[in-house]
Amino acid sequence: MATKLWQKNTTPTAEIERFTIGRDRELDLLLAESDVVGSMAHITMLESIGLLTADELTTLLAALRDILSEIRDGQFTIEEGVEDVHSEVELLLTRRLGDIGKKIHSGRSRNDQVLLDLKLWTRQQLRDIVQLVKNLFDELQRQSERHKDVLMPGYTHLQVAMPSSFGLWFGAYAESLADDMLFLQAAYRLVNRNPLGSAAGYGSSFPLNRQMTTDLLGFDTMDYNVVYAQMGRGKMERNVAFALASVAGTIAKLAFDACLFNSQNFAFVKLPAECTTGSSIMPHKKNPDVFELTRAKCNKLQALPQQVTLIMNNLPSGYFRDLQVLKEVFLPAFEELKDCLTMTAYIIPRIEVNEHILDDPRYDLMFSVEEVNRLAANGVPFRDAYRNVGLDIEAGKFQPDKHVHHTHEGSIGNLCNDRIAAFMQQILDGFAFGKVDIALQRLVNG
Ligand code: ARG
Repeated sequence: MATKLWQKNTTPTAEIERFTIGRDRELDLLLAESDVVGSMAHITMLESIGLLTADELTTLLAALRDILSEIRDGQFTIEEGVEDVHSEVELLLTRRLGDIGKKIHSGRSRNDQVLLDLKLWTRQQLRDIVQLVKNLFDELQRQSERHKDVLMPGYTHLQVAMPSSFGLWFGAYAESLADDMLFLQAAYRLVNRNPLGSAAGYGSSFPLNRQMTTDLLGFDTMDYNVVYAQMGRGKMERNVAFALASVAGTIAKLAFDACLFNSQNFAFVKLPAECTTGSSIMPHKKNPDVFELTRAKCNKLQALPQQVTLIMNNLPSGYFRDLQVLKEVFLPAFEELKDCLTMTAYIIPRIEVNEHILDDPRYDLMFSVEEVNRLAANGVPFRDAYRNVGLDIEAGKFQPDKHVHHTHEGSIGNLCNDRIAAFMQQILDGFAFGKVDIALQRLVNG
């Protein structure tokens, strides 16, 4: 059993240790790079206020760079009996450098350290998600443009309702992602604030230079009030979870549509055989499992805000160990959403569209409103036109004219995909990832 950072003259029992460490040794590995980069900023600041000498800083930075390479090479583990990533990094430094390693924790607590790690990690994860959402958006817009003249039935109450088009269907999900991107941007801006320096949640009597660590780590600004900075644990996760859930909601609905429209009874779209799976008993089956799994995973992701909320709901201000459990639901969510986004972008361009679905007379009646509007445009009062067409339908005399003339913004004949793309681009321009890259490269490479 390794000693704890906080160990004095008593040792916790093995049972207590197992239960309190929980899944940290496994989950904290995800935070390892962020932990080391955060420490680099912290000690650079400590040197600037006289708590480390220039030589000590140089030695410590070199050792931290070594640890960073070991993490990137997959060599880093959190040893048996070591509580978490913060303890492991400090243990490695003291093992390798002796007393100098013990100096890095001045003016810091694991409470602000884990806050910082989570923010640095989440900032990068959100950036990955933004890129994947943009990729999927582009695929959907391409499909929308490619099939903009192909009509399909539109439904209300799952009853055949009015003409729609594949241009509208694909394009709708692209626009939905543009709205989701706004949530991602709000989440990103909340994440991109430095909590370091809040220490245990009440600041420090050392004259910490928080602006300096804010700049070194490429944050927009800091969480100023140290009590609020600590209150951000859980609040950050919840806000980000809402953004992830918004994206997941879009994809889950798309997945359900795709499953439904791929069914033989609809046959609006078809997945190529190599994108389907078979049945162990029914030799003819080609199942849309990718969309079904995507739907389930994305529905599950929509529970994340509730999970986060319930874990932290009844906590007053200040740190509690409860917050550690947030990592169990929060950290794995990113990989799951990224996988769903990647697979959806993979399969969307492979969907085959049925260009002749409206040849089937069962869809004839969805042109009734077109006929009513045609009569009304020629001067027949709308209510009379509606009634006349209705009576024709009842009498079996209705003859659909399948040429639709929809011209207003966002309709079949005027999708406005260019305007939706411009809206998306405007949001993307607001992220300013470049500033983060410059800061981190300077900090890590010296
Ligand atoms: N593993 C802990 C967590 O995730 C790190 C912070 C520990 N702080 C403490 N006061 N015990 O919350």
